Amino acid sequence: MRPADWLAREVLVTVGTGGVGKTTVAAALGLEAARRGRRALVITIDPARRLADALDVGELGHEPREVPSEVLARVGIEGDGELHAMMLDTKRAFDEVVEGLAPDRDVYERIHANPIYRNLSDALAGSREYSAMDKLARLHAQGDWDLIVVDTPPATHALDFLDAPRRLTAFLDSSMLRALAQPAMLAGRMGLRFLRSGAELVLGAIQRVTGFEFLSALSEFVVGFEGLFGGIDERAREVAALLRSERCGFVLVAGAEPQQVRRASTFWARLQEEQVPLVGVIVNRMRGWPAGEAPDPDASIETARAWLHDALGASSEHADAILAIARRHAALARRDARLAEQLADALGASSGPVRHVPLLDQDVAALAALDRIAAHVFERPAPAGAGPAEQLLAAGQPWKT
Ligand SMILES: Nc1ncnc2c1ncn2[C@@H]1O[C@H](COP(=O)(O)OP(=O)(O)OP(=O)(O)O)[C@@H](O)[C@H]1O
Ligand SMILES: [Mg+2]
Repeated sequence: MRPADWLAREVLVTVGTGGVGKTTVAAALGLEAARRGRRALVITIDPARRLADALDVGELGHEPREVPSEVLARVGIEGDGELHAMMLDTKRAFDEVVEGLAPDRDVYERIHANPIYRNLSDALAGSREYSAMDKLARLHAQGDWDLIVVDTPPATHALDFLDAPRRLTAFLDSSMLRALAQPAMLAGRMGLRFLRSGAELVLGAIQRVTGFEFLSALSEFVVGFEGLFGGIDERAREVAALLRSERCGFVLVAGAEPQQVRRASTFWARLQEEQVPLVGVIVNRMRGWPAGEAPDPDASIETARAWLHDALGASSEHADAILAIARRHAALARRDARLAEQLADALGASSGPVRHVPLLDQDVAALAALDRIAAHVFERPAPAGAGPAEQLLAAGQPWKT
């Protein structure tokens, strides 16, 4: 599927291993959607200031903020398109989950005030991922955006957030949790058996230290939650259905590194098993050659030297220094191209065209840089702002004899 068609989906999810550029690509996809006249929302989980700075929205918080139209105009986006961004606060999102499920304000406040909930809600198995997905479902249902782009935390093999609803309900449902919630059981006959394993030994110790308080709080917590299980289950099914439908698309981001070929293909296989709709692959931070295919670093030296003399009027000393750098860069560009090719082979036909995004000469901390990334993904002509060397080489193609 061509990148332009990705933008017709209602939800796009960027996935990949750590540091490959998921957050950056998510923002670039949202920006391109805005350029094409759509109302886009980017949900990030990255607390780094970089993205907020690039989008010029001040601070990114739990509520969507619109990128001012004059900021979009700086990169030539002037139509009806809109770009909104927010940074997910999973703790608040989980509170919202509980609030939404609680039958009334009273029940919610009782759960919320419970010390176990306050300390554990963040650590509950799958609760972060679950609340992220829940927030997505809510925002999607709100219908204010044509496209929602979701950034995800780094994942090696497992896609925790796809699995989260199941893990969370399993945890809340677990007989151990229920048993612990009944202090009588611990004190009674079953208690002795329970106290044998490590976790229960710890709980036993806590009980000795804190007395009845801890167990009664835990009991109240579980009892309070019990009525909400059904709601969590139902919402989990809705989210899972959305993520596996054709309304959604997953974009895998990978790096041009030897390790990445293996990791990205494992990841891809896992996504296929999960039956999520895969729409495409981006190999990010490629050390590309500005004017197409990188030259053989050992070839065409004389042509290139002659061209450099003409173009720059440089002394032969400078020309040689520039040539040495260019040869090194050409070798790296050829290596990255080879790795990207290996990755495409490993993924097979199912991946569709693999898009390449070059390593920019600076960190992506400005809207113009995000726009350059989008231009590469969507095969638009490179926007202004490409480095002078890049422009010069792109114009001259000195290596082509
Ligand atoms: N094409 C690029 N050229 C130059 N720098 C890039 C490029 N893509 C991303 N970066 C930079 O690389 C760093 C990591 O990118 P990013 O935060 O998007 O990765 P991530 O996959 O979201 O990381 P994490 O797994 O930690 O969430 C950032 O500093 C970003 O500005
Ligand atoms: Mg990130």
